Amino acid sequence: MAMIEVRDLTKYFGNVLAVDHVSFSVDKGEIVGFLGPNGAGKTTTMRILTTYISATSGWAKVAGYDVMQQSREVRQNLGYLPEQVPLYPEMRVEEYLHYRARLKQVDRRQRNRRVEYVLERCRIVPVRRRLISSLSRGYRQRVGLADALVHDPPILILDEPTSGLDPGQQQETLNLIRELGQDHTVLLSTHILPEVEEVCQRVIIINQGRIALQDRLSQLQRDSHIVLEVKAPEQEVRRLLQQVEGVRAIQSVPVEDGADGLCAFQIETCDNRDLRLAISERLLRQGWPIRRLDLKRQSLRDLFIQVTAGRASAA
Ligand SMILES: Nc1ncnc2c1ncn2[C@@H]1O[C@H](COP(=O)(O)OP(=O)(O)OP(=O)(O)O)[C@@H](O)[C@H]1O
Ligand SMILES: [Mg+2]
Repeated sequence: MAMIEVRDLTKYFGNVLAVDHVSFSVDKGEIVGFLGPNGAGKTTTMRILTTYISATSGWAKVAGYDVMQQSREVRQNLGYLPEQVPLYPEMRVEEYLHYRARLKQVDRRQRNRRVEYVLERCRIVPVRRRLISSLSRGYRQRVGLADALVHDPPILILDEPTSGLDPGQQQETLNLIRELGQDHTVLLSTHILPEVEEVCQRVIIINQGRIALQDRLSQLQRDSHIVLEVKAPEQEVRRLLQQVEGVRAIQSVPVEDGADGLCAFQIETCDNRDLRLAISERLLRQGWPIRRLDLKRQSLRDLFIQVTAGRASAA
């Protein structure tokens, strides 16, 4: 069941096209990474989904409610961690969370319990009586996450939840997101790709306002190629590789350190078959020494650069 559904969403700021006919959906229980270069339209899309700004055209539903027509229901069903967490610096942490819970119409009798729960869950019990202005960035980020959770929403929209955190806090936040993913639907944006590989089941890459790619992570990482470096005449190697059953494409690439007499190839195979043995047997039969024969999986970083390359978004 789709908890977030976006169709042909388009947003102009004046004549800047920030989001351009974007369509995607996020199913119940999924953790989806929303990626893209700076200025791609991630925050804008998230702000439309969370009802903070309206779209120019297209529509979006959150928990089945229309973001334009039913903004109250949408807000009840989602927790939002914005890119810049708007906190009241002169409030104490627990006072702020109580205030936010009241604003979000958490039942008076539930409020204490919910605030205690999110203080624990976001590991901010030790700073509960501190003024928000005195907190480090990482702790402020956690208070922002506690705020997103305080009304117990089934859907979380997190805009760069780990940006600016130290590696330890980053990992802690990731663990928390993974935990939350067990009973929440999560859409999160980040520039830290290993994070996505760690917690997300699916990725959506947006570039210049348009979806450049969306797929399950397992599917994306399925793609692999073989890297070969061999000491032999290039054309002859190429001819021989073409005869190996299952080879789909052969591309010459530069030899890593430019060593003399070597030639290097990137080999794609049908169904990503691992043909290293077949290839090495053929080459050895010719007596050609092999320096390198690797199977390389497609990394999210390579994929990201591929689908966004040369089309960097304007700031
Ligand atoms: N309020 C605004 N007024 C005018 N233009 C805006 C406004 N907000 C965003 N934009 C423009 O819309 C485009 C998309 O911006 P957005 O903030 O959605 O990108 P992003 O993907 O979140 O980038 P980042 O990774 O840097 O956070 C950019 O060109 C940006 O300059
Ligand atoms: Mg952004």
